[in-house]
Amino acid sequence: MTVAPVTTTIIKKEVTTIKTTPVTLIEGDGIGPEILDATLDVLNAMDTSFVWHRFKAGMRAYEETGDALPGEMLDNIRQTRLALKAPLTTPVGSGFRSATVRLREEFVLFANVRPARTYIHSPRNYDNIDLVLIRENTEGLYVGVEHYIPIDGDPKAVAEASGIITRSGCRRIAEFAFDYAVRNHRKKITIVHKANILKALTGLFLETALEVGRKYEGRLEIEDRIVDNCAMQLVINPNQFDVILTTNMFGDILSDEIAGLIGGLGLAPGGNIGRDTAIFEAIHGTAQDIAGKGIANPTSLLLASAMMLDHIREPELATRLRNAIRAVLVEDHIRTIDLGGDASTSTYTAAIIRRLQSDCA
Ligand code: NAI
Repeated sequence: MTVAPVTTTIIKKEVTTIKTTPVTLIEGDGIGPEILDATLDVLNAMDTSFVWHRFKAGMRAYEETGDALPGEMLDNIRQTRLALKAPLTTPVGSGFRSATVRLREEFVLFANVRPARTYIHSPRNYDNIDLVLIRENTEGLYVGVEHYIPIDGDPKAVAEASGIITRSGCRRIAEFAFDYAVRNHRKKITIVHKANILKALTGLFLETALEVGRKYEGRLEIEDRIVDNCAMQLVINPNQFDVILTTNMFGDILSDEIAGLIGGLGLAPGGNIGRDTAIFEAIHGTAQDIAGKGIANPTSLLLASAMMLDHIREPELATRLRNAIRAVLVEDHIRTIDLGGDASTSTYTAAIIRRLQSDCA
């Protein structure tokens, strides 16, 4: 007798793993929640892998919890190692210390990368600007070592602040900047300092950066400028600059000046980068004067998100986002009020989403 073979059908199930990237969202003050919501609308309309963990910080968190940087949020960043941050209020003259500066210290985000590109061509802007400012992010006058000295009953007769710069900190940021320049096919680095006056504080920065630069000779042109001259040269002929490497305070001031060359703070992103954590943000502040009016420009935070996409090695998505922003600003002429247009935050955001969707159609 022959036995019929038993046949078994095995149904193979396709198992697909969806890659997710957890990101801590820092909501911020003033226009912070508005531009963060607009940015999320855009990113959620793209095929990104982000999973959001949203927290309040800054003045609103301080009023609610007594701390501008709630511990729960810091714990979350310790896990995600990646954050997208809206601007945070820092009281002027007194009050709590800047939560933004504390974040940079807490996660040793020693490099602040601030790229600037011309998007809008107008008589008020410079054409063809494509430069990157790299700012040391944890040392210098930002260390917050300052006090008043009372004299003759005046408790604030004298104010004294210390800037602190270390050779290892200078070497760390210089190596980052030179590596960044080579990796991104840049041609020149300008080291910006005030070593003629602050001979120790910024002299050490210049000396160390030049020393690090020797390893890159032949691959990059290296020069140095005194900060005041650099500020003037940026206005006269910004295209002479490619990558600027500078200290914490000078970087803060020059990056706002550079934003002014391309149309203002609404177009200026930044990345705070450490060895294992990165926080991306707009370089502008909370813009209290326009908060709640629905007219804030979310482009800086959107461009910061494009930097975040590059950071997680999604360059195609980053380019798609930048192209959609460029198309809306340049071809559709839809611009917020700060850029001379009349679009609200929501009209502008919807236009970017339309562009993103039409480029996939
Ligand atoms: P700001 O950058 O908030 O505003 C300067 C000017 O630019 C204002 O006229 C504002 O309306 C305009 N502006 C800024 N961003 C804009 C946008 N996205 N769309 C349209 N217009 C925009 O600078 P300000 O007034 O010196 O600082 C306000 C607060 O922000 C302060 O508490 C400061 O400490 C904080 N701040 C926070 C930063 C951060 O969290 N990274 C950075 C800079 C300031």
